[in-house]
Amino acid sequence: MDKLSQPRQRPEVQRELRRHFLRFLAASPFFAEALSETGWAQGTPPGDPKFAIPAAKDALSLLDFEALARQTLPPAHWGYMASGVDDNATLNANINAYSRIELRPRRLVDVSKIDYSIELFGVKYDSPIFLCPVGGHRMFHPEGELATGRASKAKNVMQVLSTQTSIAVEEVAKARGNAPWFQLYMPSKWEDAEKLVNRAQDAGCPAIAWTIDNLAGRNLETAERFRRNDTRECITCHATPNGGRRNTAMFTGLSGGGINPLDASWELFDKLRKITKVKLLLKGVETGEDAKMAREHGVDGIIVSNHGGRATEDLRPTIKTLPEVIQAVGNQIPVLVDGGVRRGSDAFKALAMGAKAVGIGRPYTWGLTAFGQQGVERVIDILQAELQRTMRQCGTPTVARITRSSVEAHLS
Ligand SMILES: Cc1cc2nc3c(=O)[nH]c(=O)nc-3n(C[C@H](O)[C@H](O)[C@H](O)COP(=O)(O)O)c2cc1C
Repeated sequence: MDKLSQPRQRPEVQRELRRHFLRFLAASPFFAEALSETGWAQGTPPGDPKFAIPAAKDALSLLDFEALARQTLPPAHWGYMASGVDDNATLNANINAYSRIELRPRRLVDVSKIDYSIELFGVKYDSPIFLCPVGGHRMFHPEGELATGRASKAKNVMQVLSTQTSIAVEEVAKARGNAPWFQLYMPSKWEDAEKLVNRAQDAGCPAIAWTIDNLAGRNLETAERFRRNDTRECITCHATPNGGRRNTAMFTGLSGGGINPLDASWELFDKLRKITKVKLLLKGVETGEDAKMAREHGVDGIIVSNHGGRATEDLRPTIKTLPEVIQAVGNQIPVLVDGGVRRGSDAFKALAMGAKAVGIGRPYTWGLTAFGQQGVERVIDILQAELQRTMRQCGTPTVARITRSSVEAHLS
């Protein structure tokens, strides 16, 4: 196992988790086969009453929500949420890389007032933490993206809505009071792409982020193992018998062709740039070379992402990639990052490494699963409380005061 794939809990915690986990496995033949062949475990063991929380406000850390989501969801839906690709090594690398960045606390700075608000494309948000696009929220909670949208409105954080949303962008915009950012999966047919982009723009989305890390096909192996072990009839909640994952909300009125064309190129980006009147970002940039290309082709912003380890098993933690991307584009455009953020101190580290905003994916879907809107809000609250504490401890009362000298990174 390479250094990046090592769990980040302390040894005594690891031992305890392993003991609970084994007890659980012994009692659960249903999961045994699936779990024994994968390495996806990232947090608390399922079914452990020690982690049970009656209300969202009782959660102490994001991992409390993970444990609940694991207990609550049917296996196929849990597997889809938890899965990375192949051996889940990139998923784990994202998380573990944060434990190789040290904080550099500074003392005797007046930190009586902390301001972690940010401004992005002229809009003020109360937090640098944003909600990444995650497909099909109704898989996790009946209120789906409406609950997430209301939570993001209540906390004034940025939300990026997936093309694979289970609820249409217009409805989510209504629930939020203003439209979220829209994440684009490029349809194979250009006329469908135009329709999708225009629909998002007409709904008022101030930015569109084209996800380019998932164009070459992927192996969501853990998800597939859980799906095979799920005895329910998929047809009860999917349009297709084998759990077809295409949500229809944004595909109504399109030709029915595929998405993520293999022949996508910078020429296609140029075409997209021409028809996009709002801010246009690329999500899934992982090298300085591509960041430079993106800049040359007129991108407005970049989200450094590997899809939460769900695209390519490239073993590149996003926090390690971030400086390379920032160096390539200079200060000209905002660079955001997501992947592996599980503590407010992780968000602090990402800001210190130069991110303008820090995205979370799985953590808020754990909260959504467990308690709907309140769960998502509590996830944001916990992260912000941890971020605030870290800002105080490091003598950085504003986001602007968080700089590269606030951390010492050991990432190479
Ligand atoms: C269940 C699930 C579904 C996702 N769906 C999408 C999607 O539809 N579009 C997209 O660009 N990214 C999608 N992502 C990736 C997230 O936007 C984000 O990059 C990732 O979750 C960040 O990593 P984290 O989960 O460790 O926070 C998905 C991630 C998960 C876990």
